[in-house]
Amino acid sequence: MYLKTLHLRSFRNYMNQQVEFDAQKTILVGNNAQGKSNLLEAVELLSTLKTHRARRDRDLVKEGQTAAQIEANIKRIYGEAELAVTLRSQGRRTVSLNKENLRRHLDFLGILNSVQFSSLDLELVRGAPECRRSWVDALLVQLEPIYAHILHQYYQVLRQRNALLKTMRDGLEKRCAEGNRNYNLTSEHSYSSKIETISPQILQLKLWDEKLAETGSRVTRRRARVIERLAPIARSWHASISSKTEVLEVKYAPNVNWLEDEPEKVQQAFLEKIEQRRIAEKNLGTTVVGPHRDEIELSINNTPAKSYGSQGQQRTLVLALKLAELKLIEEVIGEPPLLLLDDVLAELDLNRQNQLLDAIQDHFQTLITTTHIGSFDAQWLQNSQILSVEAGNISSF
Ligand SMILES: Nc1ncnc2c1ncn2[C@@H]1O[C@H](COP(=O)(O)OP(=O)(O)O)[C@@H](O)[C@H]1O
Ligand SMILES: [Mg+2]
Repeated sequence: MYLKTLHLRSFRNYMNQQVEFDAQKTILVGNNAQGKSNLLEAVELLSTLKTHRARRDRDLVKEGQTAAQIEANIKRIYGEAELAVTLRSQGRRTVSLNKENLRRHLDFLGILNSVQFSSLDLELVRGAPECRRSWVDALLVQLEPIYAHILHQYYQVLRQRNALLKTMRDGLEKRCAEGNRNYNLTSEHSYSSKIETISPQILQLKLWDEKLAETGSRVTRRRARVIERLAPIARSWHASISSKTEVLEVKYAPNVNWLEDEPEKVQQAFLEKIEQRRIAEKNLGTTVVGPHRDEIELSINNTPAKSYGSQGQQRTLVLALKLAELKLIEEVIGEPPLLLLDDVLAELDLNRQNQLLDAIQDHFQTLITTTHIGSFDAQWLQNSQILSVEAGNISSF
């Protein structure tokens, strides 16, 4: 797929900027804080309707304005598409495809696919499990947009189940305190009659157990499948970048273990684990069973990647993961996604830069940001479009 044009209105530090892409590689050059990452963020938004840099839409709207708009023309094998997102400082965002508003945002996803690689991605190796979960989730949304809905449902159930567990724990603590007082003062009878009032909540909890198992099993089965497909591709990239001296393993470590990829069996495994952790959940007043506690283990030569080797070696790993993402998306979607390289190229040594260049060639449309055009190998400049970014204005270099 190819991003032909991008039009930003009141988005971040852009007032009204149209960009036409005319090469497979576009290099955006500019000093810090000029708007390079903002432009990539706009592309990320069109691709996933998410940004890893802003919590609220309000932050994306140019200061002093009420609404921002991102518009793009995309060329795909089956035809062209016009995507638009309107973000508001107050109120909900709206999205449209070929000038038609889409009620379901789900229908907007999967039209522009992209893989983003920035220096923040080292967090994939060093950060908490949550970083790796969101990475796999974001990849899944690109591969099958319905996953956005599946994940949303799971987190809704989780929130409600947590609220119930918390109410139950707080209630129990209160009753115990009262019970102890009553027990000391009067009879045992008043204590036990208060305990009985718990039972409707226990019934309610049973229902939430079922829902957690049902929605959680959908999440865990999809995560397992995507990692199974991604792992061999990443391993082979990693071997080639490290000249076959290192073996990368990407392994899914689900919170609920299951063996057979069948909905009922996975749900059964959930329910069994919930029973095992019943007391812990009651004491903690929160859900401890489910994919919100999954881990994706990354290891090199059988050593956890976090404690393995230098920063350079960890970068090799992230690069291998990103290349694997590119290939997997292409395999599933049938078209090469865009690659967005935010400030990372200069951080890679020459060998890794060349590996990356070989891998993308002219096959993947790539947007690259940098502060210094001379900070990476001159090969990158061949056949590239070079644009300069200055205070929210883009011009030919
Ligand atoms: N909502 C906004 N309104 C106006 N300016 C913004 C807004 N959000 C960010 N900016 C500005 O954008 C600039 C940062 O842009 P960015 O793309 O991150 O820079 P870089 O070129 O270093 O990647 C900063 O000057 C910041 O003040
Ligand atoms: Mg930046």
